[in-house]
Amino acid sequence: MTPLIKFRPLARSDHEAAAQLLHRSLVSWYQSRLGQGTRFGDSYEPFRLFPEVYAALDPGQAVAAHDADSGELLGVCFVHPRKTHVAIGIVAMAPEAQGRGVARAMLTPVLDDARRHGLPVRLISSLLNLDSFSLYSRFGFVPHTIYQDLALNVPFSGLTALPPPRAGRVRRVTDVAEAARLAAFEEQWQGLQRETDYDFFLRNAVGAWTVWALEHAGGAPEGFLVASHHPSCVMLGPGVACDEAVAAALLWRALDAMRGLSPVFLVPCAASQLVRQCYAWGARNVELHVAQALGPIPAARGIAFPTFLPETG
Ligand SMILES: CC(C)(COP(=O)(O)OP(=O)(O)OC[C@H]1O[C@@H](n2cnc3c(N)ncnc32)[C@H](O)[C@@H]1OP(=O)(O)O)[C@@H](O)C(=O)NCCC(=O)NCCS
Repeated sequence: MTPLIKFRPLARSDHEAAAQLLHRSLVSWYQSRLGQGTRFGDSYEPFRLFPEVYAALDPGQAVAAHDADSGELLGVCFVHPRKTHVAIGIVAMAPEAQGRGVARAMLTPVLDDARRHGLPVRLISSLLNLDSFSLYSRFGFVPHTIYQDLALNVPFSGLTALPPPRAGRVRRVTDVAEAARLAAFEEQWQGLQRETDYDFFLRNAVGAWTVWALEHAGGAPEGFLVASHHPSCVMLGPGVACDEAVAAALLWRALDAMRGLSPVFLVPCAASQLVRQCYAWGARNVELHVAQALGPIPAARGIAFPTFLPETG
């Protein structure tokens, strides 16, 4: 018999079960469809970071689906409401509960709410994952930018390739007061406003973040890039650069600071110079993602670096 499902916000007491669910769901899906389950490791413990970061950043916003009888957590969906949009983070279902419309039921009230507030909904979904692509496509999400996920093993002695021309001018941002400046730059170039995210990264209380920025000689911002150094998620993004040269300088600086690690980062396929530059540094393709939106979104300029923590499209 199909179990009755109860939906409610994810509670702190659900975090351990949520980490287990994320790991089990991803391993099972990627192993059964692509034979790539091992890429998520054999322990769920690193996945504790996701509910922890999301609870700190967007308290009470994650949706949980429980079996009404047993109380078992069967599904989770992370939501990030912002002034200009609503972003959807990871959506994951227990393997035995997939294909029964539960993910659709978790998302429906979130999308209805965004519509009522006149906000577009944004996300990135894997182009290797037809189940998630179809879930969003059936709601009316439309793809707008394709990204290639690149991974690069950074030697313990640092990147061997010479730094691009502007890399020496990239500086580390540590002052929380700069969150507003980063957010204003992103809003100007990408039409997204999420100062709370930059405030969160710069406070650096949950997770482990570094923020890099590059300014024009006159002081005007040209780009910034956040890096997650936490062992559970070694990844670059979010970030924005006004052109490919600035993007290359930021990426090089952020990568060189991740010595002995293998960060993953998403680069727009259309930024072909930048992509080739990353290959020249030793980067390899590991997946493809597509940014999608439900509802009209402002035209974007420059290069965006999306991430999975927290997700953006
Ligand atoms: C992606 C995932 C969350 C979907 O959850 P789910 O509960 O199985 O999804 P639902 O049953 O609610 O909805 C799937 C929808 O896609 C449709 N669908 C699935 N495959 C399809 C296909 N090939 N073509 C068209 N539609 C398709 C289904 O018919 C359904 O739509 P409907 O409700 O209008 O009939 C689930 O597969 C999962 O947990 N995967 C592993 C984790 C993951 O990869 N998450 C996404 C990235 S973080």
